[in-house]
Amino acid sequence: MTVRVVIIGAGQAGANAAMALRRQGHTGPLVLVGDEVHAPYERPPLSKEALLQPDQARLALYTPEQFAEQGIALKLGIRAIAIDSQASTVTLANGETLAYDKLLLTIGAQPRHLPMLDALGDRAHVLRTVEDAQRIKAQAQAGKRAILVGAGVIGLELASSLTELGVQVDVVDPARRAMLRNSPELIGRFLQDTHEARGVTFHFNTGVSAAERSGDRVLLTLENGTQLLGDLLVYGIGVCVDDTLAKAAGLRMEQGAIVVDEHCRTSQPNIYAAGDAVLQIAANGQHRRIESWENANLQASAAVGDILQQSVAPYPVPWFWTDQCGYNVQFAGDMTAPQWLLRGEPGKAPFMLFGLEEGAVVGAVTVNAGKDMRPAKELIARRAQVDEATLCDPGVALRQLAKAS
Ligand code: NAI
Repeated sequence: MTVRVVIIGAGQAGANAAMALRRQGHTGPLVLVGDEVHAPYERPPLSKEALLQPDQARLALYTPEQFAEQGIALKLGIRAIAIDSQASTVTLANGETLAYDKLLLTIGAQPRHLPMLDALGDRAHVLRTVEDAQRIKAQAQAGKRAILVGAGVIGLELASSLTELGVQVDVVDPARRAMLRNSPELIGRFLQDTHEARGVTFHFNTGVSAAERSGDRVLLTLENGTQLLGDLLVYGIGVCVDDTLAKAAGLRMEQGAIVVDEHCRTSQPNIYAAGDAVLQIAANGQHRRIESWENANLQASAAVGDILQQSVAPYPVPWFWTDQCGYNVQFAGDMTAPQWLLRGEPGKAPFMLFGLEEGAVVGAVTVNAGKDMRPAKELIARRAQVDEATLCDPGVALRQLAKAS
């Protein structure tokens, strides 16, 4: 039987799912729909290379020719506006209707917006697309002042790139420290110190109370009364999922995300979802909501495996990375572990941290020590119980420890 597959969302998850379907033997019609005009591209470079070396930044995941060679119909610059799960059809904004046997939603997430900041006009930005990066780059000239609202991954990666471009940076966040959502205390503090050493000023424990234009500039008033004048403002305050299609299709949603099982099946037959838009609830009740490059790829593979009825390797320990101020910081496992142990000297890279829960290794962070990530993941995967002094001794090779424990 010929199976017609439609994928909505031409980002990391959607593009890789389409290619994997072909690689793994799907021969039927395959359509990839995306509302951006570009062929699918990588987002991690948008806060880094796309600002620092825009001419050399390699963003494309695959070229349109590669999709054509694989017989994948690429429909770019077109929004899917409705799903009829009874009729198994998708309606596109250009009026076209696509019939599917299997539908995969890889619609990603959108930056959360603050109307007060959007009202500042062309001096206020979010960062999600190539065009956003280009607009920021055009205003981020040496000697200018940038206000970054949000000290999460976007705020910090931008702080790193903008200071490198010679821009003076202020960062505002109502939280008490940087990267509170997804890093242990010591790493948040380390990154803050690192940025401060480059001249960045942080304003924690305070939000924005007013924002106005002052000619070509923006004037922010913070809740603590501080006023900041900037030539540009970028805000990264988290993401949300556009629920229009999911609601239309009658998909179960929770916490603003599309609920899927381990195989990325939604609550409706033959509709799958993967990536940033998804809350995955495993049979054992474990929740997985991960906004990362790796997770987009893993869930795309899981959906493809189920569509093709092929087995898929179990999900590995979750992992992501950030590059800031010359430091490559990698995170694996549970960042909310109650206890963290340091291996090495704090602030003197390379060093790393281990997160423990009831004596078991459940998380790890490496700073310029990426080679230690693999054995660290092995320890996490096994919830290894390792003697604390041994774990913290940089003289003991981690690979040996992973083998021995
Ligand atoms: P985030 O969740 O990492 O950080 C949001 C920050 O905004 C938090 O520090 C929060 O306290 C702050 N915030 C919330 N409301 C605020 C408000 N009203 N005013 C000021 N600050 C406020 O999200 P972020 O940085 O926006 O990133 C968006 C997405 O992009 C995430 O999914 C993230 O994982 C992804 N991303 C991942 C990267 C990586 O893995 N290296 C790099 C860049 C983005």
